[in-house]
Amino acid sequence: MRHHPAIQPGRAAVITGGASGIGLAAAKRFAGLGMKVLLADLDARELDAAAGAITSESPGAEVVTVPCDVSKIEEVRALKDRAYAAFGDVAVLMNNAGTGPGGGPFDHYDRWQRVLGVNLWGVINGVHAFSEVIIAQGNAAMIVNTGSKQGITCPPGDTAYNVSKAGVKVITEGLQHALRSTPGCKVTAHLLVPGWTHTKLTAGGRAEKPAGAWWPEQVIDLLFERTARGDFYIICPDNEVSWETDRKRVLWGAGDIAENRPPLSRWHGGYDEAFKAFLAKD
Ligand SMILES: NC(=O)c1ccc[n+]([C@@H]2O[C@H](COP(=O)([O-])OP(=O)(O)OC[C@H]3O[C@@H](n4cnc5c(N)ncnc54)[C@H](O)[C@@H]3O)[C@@H](O)[C@H]2O)c1
Repeated sequence: MRHHPAIQPGRAAVITGGASGIGLAAAKRFAGLGMKVLLADLDARELDAAAGAITSESPGAEVVTVPCDVSKIEEVRALKDRAYAAFGDVAVLMNNAGTGPGGGPFDHYDRWQRVLGVNLWGVINGVHAFSEVIIAQGNAAMIVNTGSKQGITCPPGDTAYNVSKAGVKVITEGLQHALRSTPGCKVTAHLLVPGWTHTKLTAGGRAEKPAGAWWPEQVIDLLFERTARGDFYIICPDNEVSWETDRKRVLWGAGDIAENRPPLSRWHGGYDEAFKAFLAKD
């Protein structure tokens, strides 16, 4: 299989939220291809367990673990220093750490701060700490930021999480524009948008994967396939929602503005039939 040019044996991937779920699945895949990996996450013991899981699948893999709270810029700058001290080069940066729940527009102020701190400031911190030094390497590299469909169609329920992930979409779009406008730059940015994926974040105590959810490894399969093609938006389906349904949900959401409908009209009783008809249209 052809990969994004940054994915090369011997080069390094730095993954935040790397001790679990989608981040850990990515780390296993990079290590399996002969890359060195740095896992950043909150808890040293969980990081150790994740590193053990990687080396038991890929004996001899070089795995560095760094406890780091991505919401704190000084910790992310120290993470960058550790990565360059260990590898001298970063081929892949995955700003992937995420948390929830947040809350509705006017509740759980403390959770709003935490969710925006991790999900949005964590990505901003990663972009600020790493981008210039990665560009200066002069070689192929990629920065993958993990967003969410909740940051695109913004369903009611957890406005704080939606705001954080909408911000991730916007900074990643701006980053990709800046990268492609930088002469000679061989770094690309990508917005990874998982569908419903069975991880600690979504399991809610369930051990078994619900039929509708994907495994994290399926998200990583699609990440590899789509970054190899040079795609920016990597919108993952799951076992319940197809790409065609997502495409129409995105178009309907944009239509709220273009057609002067109320916001989030998909969830307004008055638009049920119109939305159903829109979904059914070719
Ligand atoms: N699972 C899904 O259905 C789904 C859907 C859309 C988007 N996402 C996003 O995917 C990303 C990965 O989540 P996951 O589903 O693998 O969940 P997960 O809980 O398995 O992994 C998230 C990791 O981030 C770490 N983390 C949390 N706060 C941190 C902080 N301040 N600093 C460093 N690490 C921190 C957690 O400890 C955890 O290991 C998140 O950004 C999440 O919002 C997940």
